[in-house]
Parts: sequence; C-alpha cells; structure tokens
Amino acid sequence: MNFKEKIAKTAKERDSRIILALDLPPEKPYKAVLSKALHILDETQEYICAVKINRQLILPLGLFEEAQKIIFTAKNYGLPLIMDCKINDVGHTNQIIAKYYFEAGFDAVTANPFVGWEEGLKSVFEIAHKNGKGVILLVYMSHKGASEGYGQITKNSKTGDLISQYQIFARKAVEWNADGAVVGATYPDRIAEVKQIVKGKVPIYSPGVGPQGGKIEDAVKAGSDYLIVGRSITLAKKPAEAAREIRDTARLTGICK
Ligand code: XMP
Repeated sequence: MNFKEKIAKTAKERDSRIILALDLPPEKPYKAVLSKALHILDETQEYICAVKINRQLILPLGLFEEAQKIIFTAKNYGLPLIMDCKINDVGHTNQIIAKYYFEAGFDAVTANPFVGWEEGLKSVFEIAHKNGKGVILLVYMSHKGASEGYGQITKNSKTGDLISQYQIFARKAVEWNADGAVVGATYPDRIAEVKQIVKGKVPIYSPGVGPQGGKIEDAVKAGSDYLIVGRSITLAKKPAEAAREIRDTARLTGICK
C-alpha cells in the first residue's frame, strides 16, 4: 500500500480527516515537551487520521532519541506519521534527509517544489516511492507572505503566457505523482483552483484553521481532503474535545463525501 492509500484507509476507518500537528511551545528542560506530546496524542488519537510533526519537536527531542517514543505510540495506534520538514536543498542532501526521516519511522515528508526536479526533489520522490513512503508538496502556504513566492505571477518564456507560481506547482504535483498538495485553509479560492488542476489525483492538505484565520467550513467546501490542525487542539484546555469538535465540523460540512 502506498502512502496515499494508507492515509485514506485510516481516514475511512476512523471517519476523520483531521491530521494532528503535534506542536508544543518550548520548555526547559527541553525534553519536558515529550510527556505533554504523548498525553495529547493519547487523548486525541481516536479523532484523528494521522500525526504531523515538525522540527518544533524533533529539535528538542532528537530524531532517534526521545522522538521515537512519539513515533512508536502513533504507530501503535495505527496512525500514519508525516514529517513536516519542507525539504528544500540540493538532491543528494535532500535524499539523505528523507532517508533519515523514513528510517526513523515517518511515512511521508513535506517538500518545497521551488527547488525543482533535477538535482532537487527527484531523489526524494525516488527513495520515497521505492519504499512505499509519501511526498507532500507545498503548493500554496497558509501564511500572509505566501503571496510573495507561491502567489507570484510568472511568464512562460516560450509562449509569453502568464501563470501563477502555485498553478505551476499544482501541475507539478500531478506530473511528479505527489502524494499530497499543501494549500492553506486561509485561502479557500486557491484550494478550489488547485482542486480543478489536480482533478482528484493529488489530495489537498490544508493547514491554517483556527489561529491562522482559516475556517474549517470554507476549506472543506473549497475542496480540502485533509485538515492539518495544531494549536486549536494542542493548546486547548481539553484537546480531546477540541479534536472531536473539529472532526465533527469537517464531517458535517461534507469533507470527502
Ligand atoms: P496551527 O497551530 O496553525 O498549525 O494549526 C499548523 C501546522 O501546520 C504547519 N503549517 C504548514 N505546513 N505548509 C506546511 O507544509 C503550510 O503552508 C503550513 N502552514 C502551517 C505548521 O508547521 C504547523 O505544524
């Protein structure tokens, strides 16, 4: 089973399209975030379909050290794990970065299409797909500054046609056989446009609901397949209730129906 199939299966079994972004504020001693992260994961696991971790946890915990406890716990619950590392370097380095994350137990990595294919992301897709792992591409990020890069208008040097950078990246997501395209929940119009381009071949992952200003209903109606949710759950007084409510709202709005 490839990553796309694996997360779709888990989502169906759990009737949830919510990916928990397990982000926690820094603590001293650094490893103190571990018990909080494990607690939130235990409380919320029945309401989510995957776990996403970024360097906010890997830096204080260590990839092959304490972070293994989170990876092990998520796997025990049958939840796929995404490493949001936004791979963004030259090919040989990218490949080694991806290899470490896959060896550590992650099922997918995020990557930045700005570095291109040849000597860029080709090596990441190769090592991922050879091992049943996934690559999720950033197509339009959720923050305000996304317009400066992903939103810039580019000119095709051969035809003179004008096209937005994110439209090019959405096409590349299909061409490269990406396992997901990240489009911020803060930009429902962009989600709808990308949906038209990928035509169901590449699922849309949307972070940005809650503190970043995105609305669950708008993102789902525009076509998001998965919602990535961090602080609305991790900083909630009752993370389990928050996760359940978010799952239910997405469900009621008709996510993937
Ligand atoms: P919050 O707390 O805002 O966290 O719910 C969102 C999570 O998603 C990540 N994030 C992104 N990841 N492309 C990504 O690949 C994006 O545009 C993007 N915006 C937010 C962020 O790291 C956090 O874990």
